[in-house]
Amino acid sequence: MARGSQQAQQAMTPMNETTSERTMQMSAASSGTATSLPDRTAGTPATESLTIIDNRTGKQYDVPISQGTVRATDLRQIKASADDFGLMTYDPAFQNTAACRSRISYIDGDKGVLLYRGYPIEQLAEQSTFLETAYLILFGELPTAVELESWTRDITLHTMLHENIKKLMEGFQYDAHPMGVFLSTVGALSTTYPDAKRIQDEENRRLQILRLIAKVPSIAAYAYRHSIGRPYIYPDNSLSFTGNFLNMLFRMTEVQYRPHPILERALDVLFILHADHEQNCSTSVMRGIGSAHGDPYSSLAGAAAALYGPLHGGANEAVLHMLKEIGSVKNIPDFITRVKKGEGRLMGFGHRVYKSYDPRARIIKQTADLVFSVTGRNPFLDIALELERIALEDEYFVSRKLYPNVDFYSGLIYQAMGFKVDMFPVLFAIPRTAGWLAQWDEMLRDPDQKIARPRQIYVGEARRDYVPREKRR
Ligand code: CMC
Repeated sequence: MARGSQQAQQAMTPMNETTSERTMQMSAASSGTATSLPDRTAGTPATESLTIIDNRTGKQYDVPISQGTVRATDLRQIKASADDFGLMTYDPAFQNTAACRSRISYIDGDKGVLLYRGYPIEQLAEQSTFLETAYLILFGELPTAVELESWTRDITLHTMLHENIKKLMEGFQYDAHPMGVFLSTVGALSTTYPDAKRIQDEENRRLQILRLIAKVPSIAAYAYRHSIGRPYIYPDNSLSFTGNFLNMLFRMTEVQYRPHPILERALDVLFILHADHEQNCSTSVMRGIGSAHGDPYSSLAGAAAALYGPLHGGANEAVLHMLKEIGSVKNIPDFITRVKKGEGRLMGFGHRVYKSYDPRARIIKQTADLVFSVTGRNPFLDIALELERIALEDEYFVSRKLYPNVDFYSGLIYQAMGFKVDMFPVLFAIPRTAGWLAQWDEMLRDPDQKIARPRQIYVGEARRDYVPREKRR
């Protein structure tokens, strides 16, 4: 891969295919009206600038504004004295800092819009499949019929795990959390594929991407079977991506497992909804680790570790524990009072970016009805609905713009489908693998990117001399 070359600007080419340069398209939203993107994505004239007067020195500076953004390094010229390091920005948790330019997903948090490569999430959830959406996210365009067939076949060729990996997984405690098993095993794959270190080789990157997308369901299924003490099931490549995953999870003694078509489709829709979400915590970790030019298995293990946390992808598991703890609709007012006193959070509510609603949550709620028509109603649904009703009226939640997020209802579906609660974060990680890899690949092609290395404001002790042990008090 030649950094900064014209080739490097192009969307990634799938295995055995050539693609012409692809341009980002504005797509009509599901309502039929075009979603207008702000100047940040459209670009702004180079003449726009910000004038800053430093009141310490009286000096004036003009800082260029590009795409609604000033470059933090442009502030370094602003110095109080000649030996001053220069002005920095302080932005804990990256609340107002763009760390990259990306073409993959777009969120309008105020309007509740999510686009993958310009396509509204609602349209993809209704009309696409997970593998097609993964292709879109990775390569920039929806595949033609031939491209999709070839992509599906390539994925199918890579679903098996090396027997050594199976043995490694057998070594975990019988009650090991499947997400811990998942992320450790993904990391261990870097030892099976040492060639993955050649990240500058574009063909090689594509091979590792295929391997990872194909193998994460197998790892997840083995982690699950291990945790319930059942033998591992090998992939059945005559089934769809999600159909095969259900096979590896739930097959017992039948000759061929046949997934229920409604549940198979519901899982596929959930996978589409979870496939990418711009610069969230785990994606930032993927980019951060990847920026040191390690192999993608190690980076993805780190991203999965970030996802595991209850404020991120672990929230779906935490929601179910919360609903169980509440136990009954009559206990909800007490629970809400405790949350408002700061004695815990309403899990599955709130989002750093969405401030009106999470469009994924709306689709998930519709999917839940379909799933419950097959599996029967999840007994926790009444508690969840009542929690949502109260929270949407309560001043505490309304004033803080806290709405149900993707994790609020997904767990209820997963549980109704027969998944153990501790599998829920793993079910998030499988589809997000597509997004992590697309973001990793985009980062490696971006001539602006370097090793991630934030600054700090040091507030510790000034230089001081070592105190011998006998003199310390
Ligand atoms: N329950 C109660 N209060 C909340 C919640 C919540 N779920 N979320 C935020 N708040 C309050 C918070 O206490 C703060 O109040 P105050 O201003 O009085 O101090 C205010 O709302 C702003 O919260 P914040 O922590 O500054 O917001 P953030 O943008 O840093 O956090 C969040 C976003 C998702 C981590 C947070 O809303 C949260 O912890 N939610 C629960 C966990 C959850 O559902 N996570 C899944 C997120 S969606 C899936 C994914 O992409 O990861």
